[in-house]
Amino acid sequence: MLAIRLVEHPDAVDTLVLPVRPTGAATEQTRVTGTAVQVAQEVTAEAEALLAATGHGGTAGLVHELPRPLRTPSRVLLVGTGAGGEADWRAFGAALARVRVPDGSLTVALPADAGPEAVRGLAEGLWLASYRFRMTDRDDDATVRDVVVAVPEPARYEAALAAARVTARATRFARDLTNMPSSVKCPEWFADQVRAAAREYDGLTVTVREPEQLAAEGFGGILAVGGGSARGPRLVELSWQPPDARRHVVLVGKGITFDTGGISIKPREAMKLMRKDMGGAAAVVSAVIGAAALRLPVRVTALAPLAENMVSGSAFRPGDVIRHYGGMTSESTNSDAEGRLVLADGLAYAAHRLAPDLLVSVATLTGANAVALGKRTAALYSDRDELAEAVAAAAAAAGERAWRMPLPADYVEYLNSDIADVFSAPERGAGSVTAALYLREFTGKLRDRWVHLDMSAPSWSDSDDAELVKGATGWGVRTLLRWLATL
Ligand code: BES
Ligand code: MN
Ligand code: ZN
Repeated sequence: MLAIRLVEHPDAVDTLVLPVRPTGAATEQTRVTGTAVQVAQEVTAEAEALLAATGHGGTAGLVHELPRPLRTPSRVLLVGTGAGGEADWRAFGAALARVRVPDGSLTVALPADAGPEAVRGLAEGLWLASYRFRMTDRDDDATVRDVVVAVPEPARYEAALAAARVTARATRFARDLTNMPSSVKCPEWFADQVRAAAREYDGLTVTVREPEQLAAEGFGGILAVGGGSARGPRLVELSWQPPDARRHVVLVGKGITFDTGGISIKPREAMKLMRKDMGGAAAVVSAVIGAAALRLPVRVTALAPLAENMVSGSAFRPGDVIRHYGGMTSESTNSDAEGRLVLADGLAYAAHRLAPDLLVSVATLTGANAVALGKRTAALYSDRDELAEAVAAAAAAAGERAWRMPLPADYVEYLNSDIADVFSAPERGAGSVTAALYLREFTGKLRDRWVHLDMSAPSWSDSDDAELVKGATGWGVRTLLRWLATL
């Protein structure tokens, strides 16, 4: 991650960043002293002249460059702050991550009235937009490596910077897991990554169940879906248990390390990106690691049922009946509806064995998510209004989007099966909604303390866009961390 430092008196400023407000005037940074301030007065006048001539407008993240050859600073970047909310500062930070400076360093003169949320947004934008996933020894092009944020009282902003660092690190970890090609990323590899990451924090424990133990305890959904792969399934249980915890939250994330569709095989185009089908598992383990890093006073357990959905002689078949953890059975007529089968085991295990206060599922569950809501918005389901609203509010504050969808009572009959407790792949009704209704059947006593997030669409970005970069977005980590921090 690039370095971000809060400094009262920056020295040797080569590239200076001046925030521009929508009024069109560069904000004056009066508290920066030393070299920077003396230049700043003359620079402010030049900046104002440039702004008057070009009409920057102050749009969040818009960059105008003012070159000052042979002078100090030798370059001024006029960057819009928009209305100055945290999201605007994220866009501001993301824009800075994409500028090119010869020595890779920038000094940002924060407006004197900027609050801690400005630093939080700025830092998250910088760290998330500068993320790269590359499997090559070739160097990436010279981009920003070092950012100095000039503020009057650094101590006032340290906590915001620390929160941003944890959030960004956790999100970047989720992106790394999700971007990794499936030749490397098998269930065992994923479990090893979680073990290694968890070792860095006190108070985290990891349990990994291998196929023999999954069979002994009756995790039939995970075993069925993982049965077609030469690389066996796993169940990762990662928990953060602080001594002062009043509540326990269980997060269950879909961890299909590759989804071919199985015997109900996907067409070529639909299969291309299916290495991302463990984005839910990546989000929940990363959120727990983030909770430990922040030492949040809430007990949080991530369950990641991991399996590779392959086509082979040992793969499960359309029409098979699967017995889940806890004894419920599913008739599965479409092996491409595999995510819900592994989640059913995870939810049932959480409800029966862990009995938490709140239960959340996060999954790249259906193509229908994008049909209903487009590419940046997750579908959110819950029977409890306050819970749904709290999670949606956390998503909005964190810069992710989740839109509540209904759980209509009259669709429940689509889950009826002639031979099992539930039918897993209804062909009627809306795909994302019926998947949620199916999952709800496994929540037991936690039925109205459960939230489900179908994040198939926002788990991936087709282009660089503000703090997102092309590829895995790490969707859910920021939402979950914000929400957990409110409990
Ligand atoms: N992993 C897919 C869902 C998906 C699709 C995620 C596109 C991200 C992008 C899931 O396992 C799946 O195949 N769902 C089916 C369900 C159907 C068979 C009931 C779908 O959405 O078509
Ligand atoms: Mn599938
Ligand atoms: Zn899938």
